[in-house]
Amino acid sequence: MDKLCLLLSLLLVGAFGFVNGGKSKEKKIFNVEVIELKTGNISAKFTNYGASVMSVIVPDKNGKPGDIVLGYDSPDAYKNDETYFGNVVGRVANRIRGGKFSLNGKEYQLNPNENGNHLLHGGHGALADVVWEVKKVKKDVADPAVLFSYDSPDGENGFPGEVKVTVRYVLRPDNRLRVTMKAKAIKQPTPLNLVQHTYWNLGNHDSGDILSEELQLFANQITPVDNQQIPTGKLEPVKGTPYDFLESRVIGSRINQFPGGYDINYVIEGPDDPIRMKKTAIVKDPRSGRVMKLTSNQPGVQFYTGNLLKDVKGKGEWFIRLMRDSVC
Ligand SMILES: *[C@@H]1O[C@H](CO)[C@@H](O)[C@H](O)[C@H]1NC(C)=O
Repeated sequence: MDKLCLLLSLLLVGAFGFVNGGKSKEKKIFNVEVIELKTGNISAKFTNYGASVMSVIVPDKNGKPGDIVLGYDSPDAYKNDETYFGNVVGRVANRIRGGKFSLNGKEYQLNPNENGNHLLHGGHGALADVVWEVKKVKKDVADPAVLFSYDSPDGENGFPGEVKVTVRYVLRPDNRLRVTMKAKAIKQPTPLNLVQHTYWNLGNHDSGDILSEELQLFANQITPVDNQQIPTGKLEPVKGTPYDFLESRVIGSRINQFPGGYDINYVIEGPDDPIRMKKTAIVKDPRSGRVMKLTSNQPGVQFYTGNLLKDVKGKGEWFIRLMRDSVC
């Protein structure tokens, strides 16, 4: 059986610096658009709402195309979304305790959006919830691409300084999707931790749960969290625990040992070097024969089994009610 491979590579370049003469401009308003790119056997749709991946269509083992991304038919539906389907999330993905941090001796209080005190995914109204500028679209070439850009203003959700963010998606005929996220602090330093938040189901977005899909994670350690899902600051080995995916394992084989499912950050092996792409994860779906290989230049990857998804009406009226419908 010929396995089809979707190669997903993720490149995040964070730049922190001081640039003189940055003038604050009026916020520009853009229309919501859908950009469809195709090459070889792969096609994908993106929207500038949240710089999001709306669909990725690749053939299964019988050559039948299928959409392996959870999401909505219409880009407007992303405005009411609370799952972060396909979005680019920031300025700081995951949670900041108490919505507070200090930088260069100064305390910053952010606008918390979870349990009344923590800040999750950079807060509402930011990167995942705004219409980005479509800077460039390249079609009818072997490697079609789209470039989105967003200027996050000084003080957005309480974060200091203006930040310019760009996200570039490129498809290649070898079934590869490349995501490059770049950011530049204009006048002052600020924390930044961007995430591409697509939910994947290699058996098709509407094929049910992902419990029979197999996962390998090139990570010896996790960053354990406390009862509020905030990292404790320690690293813990996975070997011999239900978190151990050093060898390919069926996702559902040990998931019952966690109340909601998996939702944890893994420490990817290899040097923390922005230039080097590292093997991060391999997901296999025996039903469809699809295989996804994830490489990234990032030190960590969050493994989340859609634990909080319920009663979301997705594409084609598919009701995403089952927990653990996806891996992201
Ligand atoms: C694209 O599909 C054709 C027809 O099924 C197949 O022969 C070819 O190997 C595929 N190419 C890739 C890169 O998967």
